[in-house]
Amino acid sequence: MKRVVAAVALLAALAGTGAFVLVSLGLVSIGASSGHWKATGWVLHYAMRRAVSTQSMGIKVPPLDDPALVLKGAGHYHTSCLACHGAPGEERSLIVQQMTPEPPFLPPRIEHWEPQELFWIVKNGVKFTAMPAWPAQQRDDEVWALVAFLQAMSNMSPKRYRQLALGGQVDQPAKPVTPDHLRPLQDPLGPVLANCSRCHAEDGGGRGEGAFPRLAGQNEAYLLGALQAYASGKRHSGIMQPIAVRLEPDVRKALAQHYAELPPVSRTDAPEPLPDSLAQGRSLAERGVRERGIPSCVHCHGPKESPRNSMYPNIAGQYAPYLKLQLELFTSGKRGGTEYAHIMHSAAQRLTPEQMQALADYYASLPAEETAARGKPALTLNRREPIRPEPSAQDASNQQQR
Ligand code: HEC
Ligand code: HEC
Ligand code: HEC
Repeated sequence: MKRVVAAVALLAALAGTGAFVLVSLGLVSIGASSGHWKATGWVLHYAMRRAVSTQSMGIKVPPLDDPALVLKGAGHYHTSCLACHGAPGEERSLIVQQMTPEPPFLPPRIEHWEPQELFWIVKNGVKFTAMPAWPAQQRDDEVWALVAFLQAMSNMSPKRYRQLALGGQVDQPAKPVTPDHLRPLQDPLGPVLANCSRCHAEDGGGRGEGAFPRLAGQNEAYLLGALQAYASGKRHSGIMQPIAVRLEPDVRKALAQHYAELPPVSRTDAPEPLPDSLAQGRSLAERGVRERGIPSCVHCHGPKESPRNSMYPNIAGQYAPYLKLQLELFTSGKRGGTEYAHIMHSAAQRLTPEQMQALADYYASLPAEETAARGKPALTLNRREPIRPEPSAQDASNQQQR
């Protein structure tokens, strides 16, 4: 018996030394050009499937049939996943097809995965492949939006995909994503705004459903603060952070000014809330709940006549689902925000889910207010400096800190 053990140990040691010598001599094939051997590819993918299956056990799947989730997921998929995975009617980039392992064309693959497995993959990414993890690990709600979209994508027509991902720009001919430095420099804001419009709509009113907040008529200082908070990683969103981090500071300013000057638009497909809920929301907003330390919201968010701090967002006429989501994020400490966000973390801390719903419904039912920015001369989009192609060194270090 002893001899057998000794022989096995010797063999293992020899194999280990042999492998180390191969690696040291630089003889291991690491070139992506040669691809994997069939066996290696199979083993790696098998290991990935098994790990995902085991490690996603116990993840509870929330309801995913809300059209707002699908819309939100589609907008992000187009920004961040399309180049590697393609979509109905859209091919993968030729460059990513030279990766090893090659990212699969995704639509036909979705049916092989359970929703909790898709959630796990999108949230955690896959080591030793190019599959990235979700940029804001706090935001499980956003990852679920992607899962809702992926499930809908498995049998989606190219036309429907473009409607969801591109919004009003659906009639424009399909074209590959142009790198910033190849875009016309005379109109630096144009292409940036076109991208914002896919989700926030050209008039800044969001796209119905409440997947994306209304920006039109919001306070300029708040909008700028929000973009800076996303860019520096102080406000957490895997959807908005990668977008904001790529904007130069003066472009952020111009965008904040642009949206602040647009007339507020109210657009919602949601059913009217019950009068009882509205009355409860109104009384909470006006009086708060003193014994539980919940302040009056009206004091900072209106409606009231006296001027308010311009870092306090206008929330009247905002989409109810967006307001409720932000309150939930504040309550669980996951939202982050500008240097003023701590105020809201304590204001929202003790709200119950019913109170959040009532407050969201009440503010959504109010007419959107005009802000001081309205009536100023319209922004001309051509007067800005050209946008630099690469993120600045500061942005890059921000990204590393995260
Ligand atoms: C830089 C390229 C890249 C990007 C960007 C990327 N992925 Fe992937 N993804 C991969 C690669 C490579 C694999 C294959 C992993 C493997 O085979 O183990 C993969 C695998 C997957 C899978 C499992 C597919 C299967 O059947 O094996 C899903 C689902 C997925 N990605 C979703 C997404 C989503 C959603 C996004 C956007 C948020 C995204 N990926 C962004 C490269 C990418
Ligand atoms: C892929 C869709 C998408 C695109 C493109 C997009 N946004 Fe957003 N935006 C969102 C979502 C989703 C949120 C809410 C994120 C959260 O929960 O924090 C948001 C939030 C915001 C907010 C915060 C609003 C508030 O009330 O706090 C601002 C400001 C904003 N976006 C500006 C922009 C600008 C400017 C652009 C273009 C450069 C842009 N967005 C492009 C989806 C998008
Ligand atoms: C003392 C002032 C103050 C009070 C009181 C207050 N808020 Fe806020 N609220 C803020 C500030 C400041 C922000 C912006 C946080 C940031 O900069 O990211 C905010 C943000 C919000 C947002 C997110 C808006 C968006 O566009 O993302 C919602 C929703 C909100 N508050 C609802 C409420 C409700 C409901 C109450 C009452 C229970 C309340 N607030 C009480 C100051 C206040």
